[in-house]
Amino acid sequence: MAVTVRTATTLDVARIRADFPILEQRVNGKRVVYLDNAATSQKPRQVLEAMQRVFEEHNANIHRGVYEFSERTTAAFEEARAKVARFINAPSEREVIFVRNATEGVNLVAYAWGRDNIRRGDRIVTTVLEHHSDFVPWQQLAKDVGAELVVIDVDDDGRLRRDQLSAELRKGAKLLAITQASNGLGTVNPVREIAAEAHAAGATVLVDAAQAVPHTPVDVQDLAADFLVFSGHKMLAPPGSGAVWGREALLERMRPFLYGGDMISRVTVTKTEWNELPWKFEAGTSSYVDAIGLGAAIDYLCAVGLRAIHDHELMLVAQLLSRLEAIPGVTVYGPRTVEDRVGVVSFNIEGIHPHDAATIFDREGVCVRAGHHCNHPLMTRLGVPATTRASMYLYNTVDELDRLVDAVHKAKKVFGV
Ligand code: ALA
Repeated sequence: MAVTVRTATTLDVARIRADFPILEQRVNGKRVVYLDNAATSQKPRQVLEAMQRVFEEHNANIHRGVYEFSERTTAAFEEARAKVARFINAPSEREVIFVRNATEGVNLVAYAWGRDNIRRGDRIVTTVLEHHSDFVPWQQLAKDVGAELVVIDVDDDGRLRRDQLSAELRKGAKLLAITQASNGLGTVNPVREIAAEAHAAGATVLVDAAQAVPHTPVDVQDLAADFLVFSGHKMLAPPGSGAVWGREALLERMRPFLYGGDMISRVTVTKTEWNELPWKFEAGTSSYVDAIGLGAAIDYLCAVGLRAIHDHELMLVAQLLSRLEAIPGVTVYGPRTVEDRVGVVSFNIEGIHPHDAATIFDREGVCVRAGHHCNHPLMTRLGVPATTRASMYLYNTVDELDRLVDAVHKAKKVFGV
């Protein structure tokens, strides 16, 4: 292990946990251990209260009413956009589009940018680490327009093959679609360096930051990509919230994604003019309460501090890796160095299918994800049908990792392996 295995960080985890009532729940008679944060995170009271306040105090549709309720809700919604912009250091709020999740964000870009910019014979470069959300939209676009999809491999430690990426970019590419952090392995890609290399090759760069924005400071100006997408539900906010950040010049030139109310400035029977950014991309009634919840989640994360959260997660990863690697028959996937990870650890227990392991863990009150993690190409590359995945967040503790490790021993005992 490349780092000293610490047992504590500066986070006041006990105080944080007090904000998450769900963590006091019992499952099968045991206090729940929630280690499925890469799938979705739990929500603190502050987020729940911010959303409840909208419903109890001034709920009304946004951008449409001239009465006080509507104006207050609109102001709260647009303030949430400003919080997202500050959180990722976007140069302008006009560059922040609310979507339901990262999947919708990638689809927005694949449709509204991809259809007009990717043509027959063009090359789209992506990686085997991508979640299906950042893979299938490009695969389908490539099929529809006759472009080539180039998929960069990983090495046996689950790190991106930079040599292969460089070689493919040198051949030319119209788009690079790359994850900042893998949901399947936790691998962190150096997207800043990679974006610079892709730009030099003439490619536009989309970053799937669904597993990065919740866990580590992300600065879109520093990354210097062209599009970045993330989901709110993985960062303490409700499902139905998320954002696309895009460079204003690109967004201005793009066609809308969905047509309807709010995204227009003028409609006649023969033609329609689009609304300004970012509303051109927000058709219909937005999930405005969810967006306001995302703003509250950002307030919470900023108050705790993203660097401290990242540090805490790496401490947990180091602890978990050292414990799992000491158990005979356990294979851990992904980088061996903690610094190249977010708080995701995928593993298998020899002789036990991940679904069976997760079922036994559940009896012990431990929640993990077992399966392909929306990562079929990665599972194929690893040569396994599935893995068991523990994913950590700011409220998890070393004691909870011990509960997981005890559950691994229990599963081995049940299966006699
Ligand atoms: N993308 C989520 C995960 O990795 C659902 O589990």
